[in-house]
Amino acid sequence: MAYRFRTDLKYSQITPKADFLNRRQVMAGMAGAAAIGLSGQGAFAAGQYSTSEKPNTLKDITSYNNFYEFGTGKDDPAKHAHSLTTDPWSVKIDGMVDNPGSYGLEDILSNATIEERIYRFRCVEAWSMVIPWNGFQLSQLLERVSPQSGAKYVSFETLVRPEEMPGQNSALLDWPYREGLRLDEAMHPLTLIATGIYGEDLPNQNGAPLRLVVPWKYGFKSIKSIVRMTLTDKQPQATWNMQNPREYGFYSNVNPNVDHPRWSQASERPIGGGLFAKRKATLMLNGYEEEVAGMYAGMDMSKNF
Ligand code: MTE
Repeated sequence: MAYRFRTDLKYSQITPKADFLNRRQVMAGMAGAAAIGLSGQGAFAAGQYSTSEKPNTLKDITSYNNFYEFGTGKDDPAKHAHSLTTDPWSVKIDGMVDNPGSYGLEDILSNATIEERIYRFRCVEAWSMVIPWNGFQLSQLLERVSPQSGAKYVSFETLVRPEEMPGQNSALLDWPYREGLRLDEAMHPLTLIATGIYGEDLPNQNGAPLRLVVPWKYGFKSIKSIVRMTLTDKQPQATWNMQNPREYGFYSNVNPNVDHPRWSQASERPIGGGLFAKRKATLMLNGYEEEVAGMYAGMDMSKNF
């Protein structure tokens, strides 16, 4: 992507939204934005970025989760995440931006175009789902805060509130849960801040009220319940990478040819197909190769895993 190297230009000048959206989506987004008010849900358009694969059921998507703030069992988030208060909510955006500040949820939603995006979702543990997210392109929010020319990365943090997040009473992970993206990855039109699933507000166990979705990367990059984004010129700390850098790289792009040290990534287990569901071949960059491979041209994916 050429614009990465034009550091003299602001992103808002060079990546107008319309470049990434066809006319139908723009219209649907506008109509939706008027109709949905502050709840932020409801603008649907089957867009160029959605897969035509059949989505998992809401039950699958909301009952088989990873959200260690609520425990390590797959059913712990569904059991315990109702204790999380998501209203009021704000996101602190700081670091190398012209417009730092604390942005309230309603303000964020009313300035964003909510779309439906049906994405493949691949966990590093080798299970997968297809999820109909509602959300907006992270680029919209970043353009609004105006990254400075030296900014190269975005770091993200989840809420720390042990009274409501029982898992945070143990030192299982070094809280807050943290993640990071290169700025070009963060600005990519596929990179979403999800606000809902199946047209409903995002369930707490899936990372309410705002969570990142980066469909070509392993699921742990998709950080939940975000309260802070920091633009920086240094590669950010990322929870699983800090925990075990040999097993979890900073990039964590889905790649069938780069195995996890303890298991193969060549195939995956689709959730929802029952006990005897057939494994499927893992797709390079989780099926988004055409859209995103250019960002990694010339990079050794097995070294920068
Ligand atoms: N975000 C936070 N804050 N805490 C977590 O434990 N787990 C990650 C990611 N985001 C996690 C998180 C992992 S390992 C995965 S696979 C996905 O969330 C799971 O998302 P889902 O439960 O919506 O499928």
